[in-house]
Amino acid sequence: MATLMSGPTSRRIRSFVFMTTNAENPASQSCVLLKCAGQLCTAMRICRRHHCLIIVAFGATILTFIALYHDLTSELVGGPQHMAADSVSVILGNESQGKGSTINTTSLRGHGMNHLVLQSKIPAGQKITKVWPEKCKARHHIMFLKTHKTAGSTVLNVLYRYGDHWNLSFALPVHYQFGYPSLFRATWVKGHDTGQRFDLMCNHMRFRLSEVKKVMHPDTFFFTILRHPVEVAASAFSYYKSTASAFRNVSSLDSFMQNPLHFFHPGAQGNNYARNLMWFDLGLDPHKKPTQTELQKIFTSLDNIFGIVLLADYFDESMVLLRHALCWPLDDVVTFKLNSRSNASMAAISQETAVRLRQWNSLDWALYFHFNTSFWHHAARFGLARLDAEVQELRARKKVLAAHCLQGSAVEGRIINDKRFRPFQLGSVQILGYNLKPGLSREEFTRCSRFILPELQYKDRIYVRQFPSKAQARINWNHTIGSPLRRPPVGKAKA
Ligand SMILES: *[C@@H]1O[C@H](CO)[C@@H](O)[C@H](O)[C@H]1NC(C)=O
Ligand SMILES: *[C@@H]1O[C@H](CO)[C@@H](O)[C@H](O)[C@H]1NC(C)=O
Ligand SMILES: *[C@@H]1O[C@H](CO)[C@@H](O)[C@H](O)[C@H]1NC(C)=O
Ligand SMILES: *[C@@H]1O[C@H](CO)[C@@H](O)[C@H](O)[C@H]1NC(C)=O
Ligand SMILES: *[C@@H]1O[C@H](CO)[C@@H](O)[C@H](O)[C@H]1NC(C)=O
Ligand SMILES: *[C@@H]1O[C@H](CO)[C@@H](O)[C@H](O)[C@H]1NC(C)=O
Ligand SMILES: *[C@@H]1O[C@H](CO)[C@@H](O)[C@H](O)[C@H]1NC(C)=O
Repeated sequence: MATLMSGPTSRRIRSFVFMTTNAENPASQSCVLLKCAGQLCTAMRICRRHHCLIIVAFGATILTFIALYHDLTSELVGGPQHMAADSVSVILGNESQGKGSTINTTSLRGHGMNHLVLQSKIPAGQKITKVWPEKCKARHHIMFLKTHKTAGSTVLNVLYRYGDHWNLSFALPVHYQFGYPSLFRATWVKGHDTGQRFDLMCNHMRFRLSEVKKVMHPDTFFFTILRHPVEVAASAFSYYKSTASAFRNVSSLDSFMQNPLHFFHPGAQGNNYARNLMWFDLGLDPHKKPTQTELQKIFTSLDNIFGIVLLADYFDESMVLLRHALCWPLDDVVTFKLNSRSNASMAAISQETAVRLRQWNSLDWALYFHFNTSFWHHAARFGLARLDAEVQELRARKKVLAAHCLQGSAVEGRIINDKRFRPFQLGSVQILGYNLKPGLSREEFTRCSRFILPELQYKDRIYVRQFPSKAQARINWNHTIGSPLRRPPVGKAKA
């Protein structure tokens, strides 16, 4: 996150430049220059057929300068710079000459305006190579608590891709998961016995902080994701229909909710999926109803652990806030929805059942209520208009990427030609995946495939990278993509 500069500190900043260069033509550069002298700041945009969105926002005495670059390969996106300025002149560079016009923000403010959006075009392929001064440092030590049925697989893909790109080490489970549903133990991490600390950790577990800390760096950033408890319960019912004993003998969620205690026995196999699942995943005790005081204590403690708690219901907003918290470029949080259910697997929830689900999952409801409130406080601090602008930008990039990489939208596993991209299926629910566009170049195939590789296959891929000597025996190569990810030979696309 960028530091807020105000008062005397801000006066030290006199000018900064956002610069982009074209990889194919390094001589062609595009800059945004902001110069401040005394209380006057001037922004000069020297763009040639480039697209940059510059939002200049000025409050009472604070100027916020945000530059977003429309660029699929950008490494850095300019964050906000704040500085004290009573009057600001914004000079817009002439696209061919670099000369500009001046906008007197004092008079704009007089007209009740508090921001200004300027746009022009930057084609894809531009690379932002230099941003000065450096505003924040990208985080590489991260723990994501993956909760169930909360879009966690899509977040996992973000972390896998990032770690893959930067060759970061992952704390991987010795077996399939980290001993879930038991509380996490450090000894379940592959390689824990070497005393190694890992950069990233993101596979399913039942959270236990003290054990997680044993294998992670001291400056690790923690985050997790929650979802509306009614949605979680509905998704869990269809996904864990045959896994949770409470669900096995009942035909629909409606009939389950009419008399849940008839089917549900605390502690019976798989029943963690049947009630207060998020609460359980966070490592909290599902069998004891906390008092209000205890509840507040629990929330305070969670607030202290997790740098941010995302909401699956506001996924794009979550990705934007996350990438700022991690100081990552926007492109690193562009995603395609993974592990989603087919429409046929989604039954509508009646109003009556929704009310009962809320009561049945009252601990999850309390949790969601608390973190929904803090999420929107966080969003308000970030700036709702700014959040919205970046969400639009994220969606636009998603569209461009989908048009480039995908053949149509998400499809059922059996329709996916390349078996390596078929997601794991559980029970009768249809879990969707993607087909890549035929005819992609080798580089494009590699890049695009990372966005759609289902989590088990991606985990194997990371495993191969981290433990090359042990991977041979462990991995079923028939379903796995080794390193590097290869495009199937032309004419043999149907593996
Ligand atoms: C920029 O400068 C050129 C050359 O002086 C001029 O022809 C053009 O109209 C200017 N463009 C704008 C947008 O002012
Ligand atoms: C900007 O506008 C304000 C209010 O209209 C005016 O007092 C001031 O002189 C203007 N500044 C410049 C540099 O034109
Ligand atoms: C990636 O990291 C591993 C250690 O985790 C190291 O052995 C390997 O050389 C690194 N590879 C590259 C390409 O940096
Ligand atoms: C399901 O119903 C059958 C027959 O009524 C019964 O034998 C079995 O114990 C029930 N299973 C569960 C998990 O309740
Ligand atoms: C599933 O439903 C959504 C929302 O109703 C719709 O937009 C989408 O096209 C549907 N997908 C399929 C594959 O039918
Ligand atoms: C979440 O918070 C927002 C903003 O305060 C509010 O509008 C919304 O109703 C809340 N949702 C729930 C489920 O409490
Ligand atoms: C992989 O595929 C080959 C050929 O189809 C088959 O003989 C082999 O048993 C498979 N291996 C595993 C582990 O499934």
